[in-house]
Amino acid sequence: MFYETKNHHGLERNPFKSLIVPRPIGWISSQDRDGVVNLAPYSFFNGVCSDPPMVMFASEGTHMEGDSKDSATNAQATGEFVCNLATWELREAMNATSEHVPRSVNEFELAGLTPAPSRLVKPPRVKESPVHLECTHLQTVQLPGNDPEHPTLVVFGKVVGIHIDESIISDGMIDMSVFKPIARLGYMDYTVVDNVFTMLRP
Ligand SMILES: Cc1cc2nc3c(=O)[nH]c(=O)nc-3n(C[C@H](O)[C@H](O)[C@H](O)COP(=O)(O)O)c2cc1C
Repeated sequence: MFYETKNHHGLERNPFKSLIVPRPIGWISSQDRDGVVNLAPYSFFNGVCSDPPMVMFASEGTHMEGDSKDSATNAQATGEFVCNLATWELREAMNATSEHVPRSVNEFELAGLTPAPSRLVKPPRVKESPVHLECTHLQTVQLPGNDPEHPTLVVFGKVVGIHIDESIISDGMIDMSVFKPIARLGYMDYTVVDNVFTMLRP
């Protein structure tokens, strides 16, 4: 099949998000200028380069109270955010923090998660997650949305500090069988990294 994206795909459900898979989940903690803490998952998330390490996440649509979603707003307003990595054990808690709730709600409390202080930035980390990337905001790029009043916001950050729980380090390397990061597929589907193969470069 082929379809132009300005037209309907002809399938029961939009296939786009099922094609670029799996997408890692950046579980973004941030806080607003008054210190109100926020936590939400983003699967339009990735590392974009390694030296220095940088990441991005893309926020589309709006917050239930209007304007852009909190994670993008806070990252830009305060210049800081943390990417916590979601794992198999944390899947339900991660999902709970995606609920559309008023700005005043602290999603750490909503999902029963423990905030741990960061070292270099103000937003707290998710203590239960084995990996945290402390980030400073670099740039937010506005991409035109279908609704001209609500562009997609692509937030870029520089990773200034990385926490790795010792439990996922084995022989000096990250042990995926212990880490077990989850990632987003399309529809309501996810996957978990439980299968690794190695190839040497030519
Ligand atoms: C696994 C998962 C991935 C998500 N990825 C995105 C995403 O990439 N972009 C986005 O705008 N919303 C995404 N969402 C929805 C947001 O998490 C949700 O809108 C949330 O309420 C935003 O919170 P915030 O306003 O506190 O940032 C995702 C939800 C889930 C469960």
